Amino acid sequence: MSIDYSERIPNNVSLADNRRLQRALESWQPNYLRWWHELGPEGALAHDVYLRTAISVESDGWANFGYVKMPDYRWGIFLARRQAGRTIAFGDYRGEPAWQEVPGEYRSALRRLIVTQGDTEPASVEQQRHLGATCPSLYDLRNLYQINVEEGRHLWAMVYLLHAYFGRDGREEAEEMLQRHSGDPDRPRILGAFNEKTPHWLAYFMFTYFTDRDGKYQLASLAESGFDPLARTCQFMLTEEAHHMFVGETGIRRVVERTCDVMAALKTDDTERIRVAGVIDLPTIQRFLNFHYSVSLDLFGQERSTNAANYFTTGLKGRFQETRIDDDHRLTEDLWPVYVPQDGTIVREDQPALLALNERLRDAFIADSQRGIDRWNRAIAQRGVDYQLTLPQRGFNRRIGVFADIEVSPAGDIVSADAWARQTHDWLPSDADHGFVESLMKPVTAPGEMASWIGPPSRGINGQPIDFDYVRFAS
Ligand SMILES: [Fe+2]
Ligand SMILES: [Fe+2]
Repeated sequence: MSIDYSERIPNNVSLADNRRLQRALESWQPNYLRWWHELGPEGALAHDVYLRTAISVESDGWANFGYVKMPDYRWGIFLARRQAGRTIAFGDYRGEPAWQEVPGEYRSALRRLIVTQGDTEPASVEQQRHLGATCPSLYDLRNLYQINVEEGRHLWAMVYLLHAYFGRDGREEAEEMLQRHSGDPDRPRILGAFNEKTPHWLAYFMFTYFTDRDGKYQLASLAESGFDPLARTCQFMLTEEAHHMFVGETGIRRVVERTCDVMAALKTDDTERIRVAGVIDLPTIQRFLNFHYSVSLDLFGQERSTNAANYFTTGLKGRFQETRIDDDHRLTEDLWPVYVPQDGTIVREDQPALLALNERLRDAFIADSQRGIDRWNRAIAQRGVDYQLTLPQRGFNRRIGVFADIEVSPAGDIVSADAWARQTHDWLPSDADHGFVESLMKPVTAPGEMASWIGPPSRGINGQPIDFDYVRFAS
């Protein structure tokens, strides 16, 4: 199953045979390109970027690298291969054939799921649009642009579903995804984390580590959907998401390594001396970690959610790796432990598993997030530095769910508003922290060179050397 590049919109969904859909997508395409010109990566329209483009959805389909100007990127519509005889794996319709069309009674719920996912994709491109001006290396700049074009393709993926399966209101929703903008006071993006600023590269690496990882878990749940086109679309998107998280994990690791190398050379853990040396002290890295982790936890929603229960029962959104779970896949009798504040402390309490599906997905995200932290801590220990990065307790700095109205320390103690106000500078990045990090953000664009505050990657892209010219600037 290969992608047809002879068409204006590369695809593996036989677009040529569906004139009505083709016309809808072709009329959306100019608006998308206008959006890319206005709110895509700033000042980068004419750069030649060494990008990876999918040429098929098979495992070798990614092996296609070459210089591309981003507006010419082949954004297309790629769905994972259809599995013959696939059945719905969970909920009331478990065992029935997966739906190839939208069931009428679930039309608005499915549309809402698709629009909520789709809205995040262009949002992150908007959030990251200024970063190119301060890239720490050509390697990092190229990875930023790769992520940006893939988030653009993820928007295409969701717009395809809206156009192909939701008629006129689907087309309207697709238009609106280009009209809402990250941080716009009048027309903000749907989810909170996607209206936050990504003001510098430390925030960006944290975002790609934590917030793209939320994306992984949402996509993985939708990849289980009984609505087969949604499932297949999300399966293919997950392959792209893995690269985004790789950029985040290795990005933070390189920052940590560089800091520890400088600490070891100077034989100091004095914050001021470390900062003067042009690297980011570990407590500041911890504060940014605290922020991005906590806003990403909010993306999973309320601990107790009838919406999540209904999505599951009706076969729209499954659990992470649903088919690998050994239970009845209906959950009507099951319990799941949920953390809740009670009498001044945080306790675990069994709740109906159906209502706790958001929390269950958050649990999987937390365990997955910890794995990268462990790797960062190994890099710190290897350099003989006595410091450990940690994930704050899940109630820390939350704005959604049972912790929204209380303050919880990173260690998991419920604290007064006064205590929170006194210590918040120890726990979350202050304006001064942002100012310091921003002061380090000077562009480095000579091939192979790295900014002061980050170490080199362990290898280049696609077997190329680290000093390869990953981006050729328009002169
Ligand atoms: Fe995405
Ligand atoms: Fe992503």
